[in-house]
Amino acid sequence: MVASQSEAIETQNLTKVYKDFWGRDKVRALDDLTMTVHRGEVFGLLGPNGSGKSTTIKLLLGLIFPTTGSARILGEKAGSTTINERIGFLPEESYLYRFLNGEETLRFYGQLFKIPRRELNRRVPALLDTVGLDAKARKRKLREYSKGMARRIGLAQALINDPDLVLLDEPTTGLDPIGTREMKDLIKSLKEQGKTVLLCSHLLADVQDVCDRITILFRGREQIVGPVRDLLQVRDVTQIQTRTMTPAQLQEVQAFLIKQGVKDALVTHPTTTLEDLFMRIVKESTPAGQSSVGSA
Ligand SMILES: Nc1ncnc2c1ncn2[C@@H]1O[C@H](COP(=O)(O)OP(=O)(O)OP(=O)(O)O)[C@@H](O)[C@H]1O
Ligand SMILES: [Mg+2]
Repeated sequence: MVASQSEAIETQNLTKVYKDFWGRDKVRALDDLTMTVHRGEVFGLLGPNGSGKSTTIKLLLGLIFPTTGSARILGEKAGSTTINERIGFLPEESYLYRFLNGEETLRFYGQLFKIPRRELNRRVPALLDTVGLDAKARKRKLREYSKGMARRIGLAQALINDPDLVLLDEPTTGLDPIGTREMKDLIKSLKEQGKTVLLCSHLLADVQDVCDRITILFRGREQIVGPVRDLLQVRDVTQIQTRTMTPAQLQEVQAFLIKQGVKDALVTHPTTTLEDLFMRIVKESTPAGQSSVGSA
């Protein structure tokens, strides 16, 4: 398969075991994850605290190495420099230079990517607009930024190299509802530009609103994977929806159903909330008497 047709992300039995000081297995942070993220989709990695989301992202970037298994990004081995240049990464916490202002920060990272000055003159203000940092904010030093502003400049930094694949670790942390909405719209616009987005979150509504497919991780293991819409479908309930039925027609339908022995009538598949699905999966996977936080 040629690189341009490869999947955006492919992991094979990816496993990360952190060792303790004496080299003994301490935490199985990620356990046998085999997952594929197609090009151009928004994929959500969902899971409670300590379930292995950030570990997965770090493995994909080559910041840490798998104990066993492998990962390929855009057709190449995870961690290779040529591939990392095509990735944008928003970490859980951005470690940016506190004494630079927003604009200087983007220019600094742009130069690291060897983006020509002329292109930077165009890209930097455009990105600052995109993430909603106004003229005043972009001249302020990062140490004076609020949490939400820091998240926005972190995202702009992640996009400075016009990446094909964007990895977002908890992108809406610290954002107010408006910022959250803007972040979601931005993720959708990244998809419209043909980029692939992998996002980690435990904020279920965010994931439900923007992701095409999701995986739920729990204690480092994949519990479920699929298109959000399918996962939320309640298959044992049937629903009929219409805007145009008259009361007389409705009565007739009801009478017909009763005649057929159907007493609780309502046809399509209604959806549950992602929250319910998430809670059920975590509950079902938690051994009695144990907490849902942390890994095995
Ligand atoms: N460097 C490390 N050394 C030892 N254990 C680690 C290390 N990094 C992570 N872990 C453990 O691996 C497990 C998974 O951590 P990870 O950061 O991937 O979780 P997460 O899903 O991102 O959680 P959160 O929602 O809290 O960000 C946790 O139990 C964590 O304590
Ligand atoms: Mg994390």
